[in-house]
Amino acid sequence: MTKAEFPSAFSNAPGQRNIDLASEIERLRKERNAVILAHYYQAPEIQDIADFVGDSLDLSRKAAATDADVIAFCGVRFMAEVAKVLSPDKTVILPDMNAGCSLEDSCPPEEFAAFRAAHPDHISLTYINCSAAVKAHTDIIVTSSNAEYIISQIPEDKPILFAPDQHLGGYIKRKTGRDNMLLWEGSCIVHEQFSEKELLKLKAQYPGAPVAAHPECPAHILDHADHVGSTSSILTFASTSGADVIIVATEPHIMHQMEKARPDKTFIGAPGADGNCNCNMCPFMALNTMEKLYASLRDLSPRIELPEDIRLRALKPLERMLEMSPPSNGGRNTGDLSNIAPAQLEV
Ligand code: 13P
Ligand code: SF4
Repeated sequence: MTKAEFPSAFSNAPGQRNIDLASEIERLRKERNAVILAHYYQAPEIQDIADFVGDSLDLSRKAAATDADVIAFCGVRFMAEVAKVLSPDKTVILPDMNAGCSLEDSCPPEEFAAFRAAHPDHISLTYINCSAAVKAHTDIIVTSSNAEYIISQIPEDKPILFAPDQHLGGYIKRKTGRDNMLLWEGSCIVHEQFSEKELLKLKAQYPGAPVAAHPECPAHILDHADHVGSTSSILTFASTSGADVIIVATEPHIMHQMEKARPDKTFIGAPGADGNCNCNMCPFMALNTMEKLYASLRDLSPRIELPEDIRLRALKPLERMLEMSPPSNGGRNTGDLSNIAPAQLEV
């Protein structure tokens, strides 16, 4: 293979000249007994080299079950932290440690602890897009694929604190009619960029094309959606829908899997404010590159390390999530809430 034939396989980064990244990653994966886990928002070449691609819940389950020595997590930091919480004996590497998340940033642990302390009678359900320190103050973690299912197991009269995504929280509140949900006002900078005006123009251009949206989108976008769900569920909808053209209102890299699954269909990303921007690409996910994945496998760095007390406290609400998730996702539905609450309030 020459560089001219496969230019994207080679790196021009200093110190990495003429390295065939895909082959080197393959070699290191075997040498390190590593598993590469990737989120759907990663660049296509990373998705293609990964052992497993999935949504936050799928990836958590894979991280908990793997027998690899090293987990190379191609996603954002909170996802890699979840892998470390669930698999503490593994070496967990993240190609770029700056791969954060605006939802995590919107919920500092001290402010969240104060919010909880101010509402001692509420149970706290927290979206997995938060730091391990926030998880440590939480009763149950949820993802976009199990939030509604888990909330349906909380007694109707039990008030809920939902953080940090106001849009996911608002969507569930509207859908379930649960007025006793208090929402933290965080949001995703990526999903907030979709423009209702531009979406309506696109729908007019493609009459009958269904819209599939992630629940991190604001209500004015979700109101126009035919399907709302996690990245995995959007992918399933797009692949199984009878429509030839599907409008996708989430980070556009997921369309790589859609195009692979259904090359016969047309997938169109919902537009941002000026109708033609890249503002709905996740800048945090984009920090991971093939070069950085290669370097992280070579150096086993950057590594996720967590204080053991935080890890143990973050583990409880994650285990509850796994127990309370839909059986079809491999979880066990106990609905047992008897041991939840006061201990989690300790700071
Ligand atoms: P999913 O769990 O649906 O993959 O969502 C993760 C995420 O960060 C979406 O922005
Ligand atoms: Fe966070 Fe939004 Fe990026 Fe998802 S798309 S990782 S919620 S910033």
